Amino acid sequence: MDLALRGRFCTCVDGDVSVHEGTIGVRDGVIAHVGAEPVEATEERAFDGCLLPGLVDPHTHLVFGGTRVDEFARRMAGEDYRTIAAEGGGIARTVRGTREASEEQLFELAAGRARALRAGGVTTIEVKSGYGLSTEHELRLLRVAKRLETEGLVRVTTSFLGAHAVPPDTERGAYVDEVCHEQLPAVAEAGLADTCDVYCDGGAFTLAEARRILETAKGLGLKVRAHVGQFDDLGGAGLLAELDGLSADHLEQVSDADLDRMAEACVVAVLLPGAWRTLRQTPPSAERLRAHGVTMAIGTDLNPGTSPTPDLSLCAALGVRDAGMTLEEALLGVTAHAAMAAGTRGGRIAVGEPADFAIFPVTDPRALGYALGGLRPSAVYLAGALVHEGPTASLW
Ligand code: NIG
Ligand code: FE
Repeated sequence: MDLALRGRFCTCVDGDVSVHEGTIGVRDGVIAHVGAEPVEATEERAFDGCLLPGLVDPHTHLVFGGTRVDEFARRMAGEDYRTIAAEGGGIARTVRGTREASEEQLFELAAGRARALRAGGVTTIEVKSGYGLSTEHELRLLRVAKRLETEGLVRVTTSFLGAHAVPPDTERGAYVDEVCHEQLPAVAEAGLADTCDVYCDGGAFTLAEARRILETAKGLGLKVRAHVGQFDDLGGAGLLAELDGLSADHLEQVSDADLDRMAEACVVAVLLPGAWRTLRQTPPSAERLRAHGVTMAIGTDLNPGTSPTPDLSLCAALGVRDAGMTLEEALLGVTAHAAMAAGTRGGRIAVGEPADFAIFPVTDPRALGYALGGLRPSAVYLAGALVHEGPTASLW
């Protein structure tokens, strides 16, 4: 073995959130041993606290330029998100800021955000495009996202979100045609997107448009997901169940029938506390999702408009307090279930999984949903290599 880590750990495999004592062995960046008995390795290390799988953030808009602090101030003074967007603010504003930035600048900005997520224990990040809204600009964002992984910062899975908004001065039918006939084929050809996302909501794309785009994406070999029911229920969750989607994200508004379809098709519900908090919305009910048998994950939704946070464990804590998730659901929601939603490996401590770990200075791993912000791992490993060190003192 290359590395043996000895201490207390939580596997998150098959819903197991109990604490085990033993050794995790790593060979070639992959977990090669998990058990009570020690193993010999080139490097052996005993650790304090509790080792978890590296956290997985299944929903981010990490690559963008510019800020929207002023819009936030207006919204807190009572103006409406969609009214500001209709006046050329909102997503269109960030599209302008993003197009003005060079690819190098966008990478530096995104790398800073990826490091902030990683300092909170996140080792795999789903990154969406969606602030480019043309073939050239969307490709640029996806290249930047992939580079976060090739430069060894974090693991990345990418989602093409050309259908985030209709660009200004563009006819919506013509734009949906462009997404299907030009942007999607170019993105698939370049191999830059793992999945396709659509913002299917009132004021965004209709159910019929979402269907067309996601079916085109499937035809090109991409997996699908969507932002659905953030404001209005257009039936997007049911569409994702029909198309075998990975996740349905937001879900403030969703019907019982579509929740049943999601459970049946194993579409994961990605809850986004940063967005419902920033928009001061009523959160989805975990009790209701649980009653329908829907698997839940939690994402930061890191974006400049509705969720300016890189703190995934804070989001887990808000999922508990606002939506009524249990501490166990919150822990699985940022590990094993988040990996399911992201369509990636990881999020579990098991032989054959990537050796990505976050060691937190806590005795009970449920502290992830308990600590209301400020929870930082003492060590983060990516493919068996130590990539970040943080505070070792236990706060709780
Ligand atoms: O996930 N819902 C659409 N997209 C983002 C908001 C993007 C923005 O306002 O820039 C979200 O909340
Ligand atoms: Fe989002």
